[in-house]
Amino acid sequence: MVSKLPQHVKMVEVGPRDGLQNEKQEISVATRVALIDKLSDAGLPVIEAGSFVSPKWVPQMAASEDVLAGIARKAGITYSALTPNLKGYERAVAAKADEVAVFGAASEAFTQKNINCTIAESLERFRPLVEQAQSDGIPVRGYVSCVLGCPYEGDIDPVKVADVSAALLEMGCYEISLGDTIGVGTPEAAKRMIEQVAARVPLEKLAVHFHDTYGQALANIYAALQMGVAVVDSAVAGLGGCPYAKGASGNVASEDVLYLLNGLGIETGVDLQLLADAGNFISHELGRDSNSRVARALAG
Ligand code: HMG
Ligand code: MG
Repeated sequence: MVSKLPQHVKMVEVGPRDGLQNEKQEISVATRVALIDKLSDAGLPVIEAGSFVSPKWVPQMAASEDVLAGIARKAGITYSALTPNLKGYERAVAAKADEVAVFGAASEAFTQKNINCTIAESLERFRPLVEQAQSDGIPVRGYVSCVLGCPYEGDIDPVKVADVSAALLEMGCYEISLGDTIGVGTPEAAKRMIEQVAARVPLEKLAVHFHDTYGQALANIYAALQMGVAVVDSAVAGLGGCPYAKGASGNVASEDVLYLLNGLGIETGVDLQLLADAGNFISHELGRDSNSRVARALAG
């Protein structure tokens, strides 16, 4: 296969949402706001700032309204939020989220645990949300979880991933983020899955979202870049996990992804030192070392 590395990659920072949603300790609104402001300073083009899900299900994301109200918005940066249903969408719009994201999965069991419905029901729930967003002019991203394995079902057929991705695209999602929620994928499996999805969804609309549970995330991202994927999700300091995916450790660290992209000569517009500063800030607040190898190396 001829490698077609993109010249530019859009880095989507999910730390303030995918990262902090999984923390056991309480995190204040002020800390969440300070983290997002530091990520804005680093030049990230998209920052997932919060989540308008049920606070009973994910207490850490309660008060996402206050977070969005407290941040210093910078021109050109998209501040996005997760929305599981119309109620969440309305909260997100009231909080002035620039973009929202619906989240489905390629696994029935995970969908049931995560959002308490079947895959088919989840798609029906998203439909009115996407329609409303389209008439409001708000872009909707679609996540597909468990694209390379499920904590409950094991291996996942790439055809299933392609089916859910195509359904989200047809519904009106402008971008589809393929999530290896439990970080079990390896590069060839990732390529086979992306190939299958790209037959149904244009490659330029695909994003990859790797968790680093088995230490494979950067290898998988490199494989995706070689196929031409140009949108990569990551979380500063490698924060993260999913409360409904047992064993899911952190997202791939944004600092590590940026170091890789810089080394490949791919433009991002993101400053590595300022990004590492943001990661060191939140790691300090959480009372632990950063999960980013690059941040640790830079700290000496
Ligand atoms: P449910 O219990 O089936 O739904 O939850 P319900 O409609 O019966 O609502 C139950 C209660 O929640 C009601 O309140 C609703 O009003 C309230 P009550 O009457 O009991 O007082 N409610 C809400 N409150 C605030 N905002 C809302 C909202 N919706 C309902 N939007 C539901 C269904 C989808 C709401 C629930 O299952 C839920 O919130 N799930 C979210 C789970 C979640 O956030 N998971 C983590 C994100 S996914 C992820 O991390 C993966 C990803 O990163 C990609 C990857 O890594 O692969 C994206
Ligand atoms: Mg995730």
